[in-house]
Amino acid sequence: ASAPLIDPFARPITYLRVSVTDRCDFRCVYCMAEHMQFLPKAELLTLEELNRLCSAFVGLGVRKLRITGGEPLVRRGIMQFFRGMSRHLGKGLDELTLTTNGSQLGRFASELVDCGVRRVNVSLDTLDADKFAAITRWGRLPQVLDGIRAAQAAGLRVKINAVALKGVNDDELFDLVRWCADEGHDLTFIEVMPMGDLGNEDRLDQYWPLSDLRARLAERFTLTELAERTGGPARYVRLNETGQKIGFITPLTHNFCESCNRVRVTCTGELFMCLGQEDNADLRAPLRASPDDTLLRQTIRDAIARKPKGHDFDYSRQSVTGQMTRHMSHTGG
Ligand code: GTP
Ligand code: 5AD
Ligand code: SF4
Repeated sequence: ASAPLIDPFARPITYLRVSVTDRCDFRCVYCMAEHMQFLPKAELLTLEELNRLCSAFVGLGVRKLRITGGEPLVRRGIMQFFRGMSRHLGKGLDELTLTTNGSQLGRFASELVDCGVRRVNVSLDTLDADKFAAITRWGRLPQVLDGIRAAQAAGLRVKINAVALKGVNDDELFDLVRWCADEGHDLTFIEVMPMGDLGNEDRLDQYWPLSDLRARLAERFTLTELAERTGGPARYVRLNETGQKIGFITPLTHNFCESCNRVRVTCTGELFMCLGQEDNADLRAPLRASPDDTLLRQTIRDAIARKPKGHDFDYSRQSVTGQMTRHMSHTGG
């Protein structure tokens, strides 16, 4: 075994997020432009290359692997990839999981369980079918709810990710909390990050700080701070009255960069050391240069050695600064 990955700020890198496709069957307004120019297939890492790449990271100490997109379940043959990854579980890899929009879970939930997946994060910002269609630009809420039910029936734990959007889902806070309690899902709220080409004004208008959301929760429930973590960026509280766990992801109001343990790979093999920075390293070239992983591993190590301290997102002035023109779908959130 070789030395694990440690960045310049002494943070061990144990969590890899890999985007397996830039495509998605939805076009969420905060994630993609309506008319996306998708990448030609030849640009994408093949399933074999993805397998080699992720396995190399596991060899370098990665313990948690999250598959993202775009929508990971629209990538053709993706179950073959999950099956390949499952061989690492218990042998270096602690968790194999994915973040999905839920639309294809009806088809794939039980196969995912077979591959050792125990938990899925499903993006769902609203329980109102019209709002859902507006956010996703054409998604059908019932299809996603069916997918979530299928996941649960297959034995997967479901965590709902809701991006907090002022004027969009702020009136649904208690409905979302209640629904998750009734259905037995965990729930995490996420502050909307300024990525993609939406005008700054729109983003600032929709920005709903989670400190606010949390204060509203505290008016109705007693919140107990939980020490427990999932290895992701969320901090959790328990609502004493319902017993449920609510997570908060607050890159803007409470930056969690000091404990960052993760890097991301795009579907074309770019390694991003931070979601909120442009610096990246090409891993496709070393993958394609040789069937041996020596160069690949060295390229990964060199890149980790320049992982930045944190992102530059900032809403504290009257306009958004640190806005990234890169779309969220490019790095998979
Ligand atoms: P758990 O394993 O359940 O903790 O999942 P996770 O929160 O690690 O993953 P998920 O894909 O559900 O991500 C939820 C949100 O967290 C997404 O909006 C991500 O963009 C955001 N997120 C994850 N890591 C980072 C990070 O390093 N920086 C920032 N700014 N946001 C992040
Ligand atoms: N800001 C915050 N979260 C976002 N997501 C996508 N785009 C954004 C954004 N601009 C979320 C999705 C999904 C997760 C991977 O990232 O809703 O749950
Ligand atoms: Fe698709 Fe997820 Fe992006 Fe929405 S957030 S467009 S569901 S990848």
